Amino acid sequence: MRILGIESSCDETAAAVVEDGAAVLSSVVASQMATHGKYGGVVPELASREHLRAIVPVVREALEIAGTGLEGLAAVAATSGPGLVGSLLVGLTYAKSLCYARGLPLIAVNHIEGHIHAVLLEARRAGGEVPLPALALVVSGGHTHLFEIDPAFRYRLLGRTRDDAAGEAFDKVAKLLGFPYPGGPIVDQLAPHGNPRAVRFTFAKMKGNAADFSFSGLKTAVLRWVEARDMAEEIAARRLLARGAAPSLEDWLAVTPQATRDLLASFQHAVIVELLTRAAASAEAVAAQALIVSGGVASNRGLRAAAAAARLPYPVFFPTPGLSTDNAAMIAAAAFPKFARGEFASFDIRADAGLRLA
Ligand code: KG4
Ligand code: ZN
Repeated sequence: MRILGIESSCDETAAAVVEDGAAVLSSVVASQMATHGKYGGVVPELASREHLRAIVPVVREALEIAGTGLEGLAAVAATSGPGLVGSLLVGLTYAKSLCYARGLPLIAVNHIEGHIHAVLLEARRAGGEVPLPALALVVSGGHTHLFEIDPAFRYRLLGRTRDDAAGEAFDKVAKLLGFPYPGGPIVDQLAPHGNPRAVRFTFAKMKGNAADFSFSGLKTAVLRWVEARDMAEEIAARRLLARGAAPSLEDWLAVTPQATRDLLASFQHAVIVELLTRAAASAEAVAAQALIVSGGVASNRGLRAAAAAARLPYPVFFPTPGLSTDNAAMIAAAAFPKFARGEFASFDIRADAGLRLA
């Protein structure tokens, strides 16, 4: 039972063919990093245009690698939200047209549910299952959410960010310091070269839901830190380096003095502690049998190491890095149980930028 998954919610055009919700026959991701990098963030108009350009060849390549034509598919699944509406429209509309032309069922998938299924998919592939109920921490550039997943695969939102997503905080702090977009992977690489206890970051006490997050204060704290110092020269040096072709870690280290490395290490440490503390408290509250961490920030090595070192009383599951960031295999995997339940979308379904899970 093969499902073609299509993902275009943000700045990656992706297509994948997944068999029986477990075997990834192909997973193609066309990144728009080169397009948005110089603007320091995703430009929605450019993203839709790039999706339009990439969607046909990306889907064709995914089918080719999987060794199947459209006739070999049981369904086509596409992300219907949340995300940038113009970007979502490209993938969803293309999926609709394939289904219409070939008489295939269409399955609409929530992007966040996709991130969760990246982990379930890999557990299944390894011959196991994630024990439920589980707590899912979805952390990316667009979302920071805590969900309970009950044994019937129903989702309950326990907490979310009140302002910036964790990945967004990484990206904004990196940008402030002259690093290119996306900043997360660079901060991750540089953090081990700094002292995580050099700069103290504090979080405001959360009124109301104690499972909610707030990351915008970190960005402000870093801004104040930068303003209090004369950093124009090193920031300019990094901006210059960012314009060149794929700088290496050594290149970044050469333009990043120790004090700045310490700042980055401390910032990352603060984010990690905040994520794990609230996730662990929520997991305990719902008697979770497992913790799932997914989304772009789940590829952060410091977060993975800290989760392992925390010796939590339940297993912690991370997707492999390739399935942490946006991809379509996770969309096809999330569609598999929906296919089994006959949960198909009608052709008038619309892209929903603010689509909620649970
Ligand atoms: O899931 P994703 O590809 O797209 C969204 O749905 O947002 O996540 C991208 C986000 C970006 O903010 C990026 O900086 C962050 O994930 N990210 C990381 C790392 N790799 C990607 N953040 C911290 N450490 C990383 N290694
Ligand atoms: Zn994502």
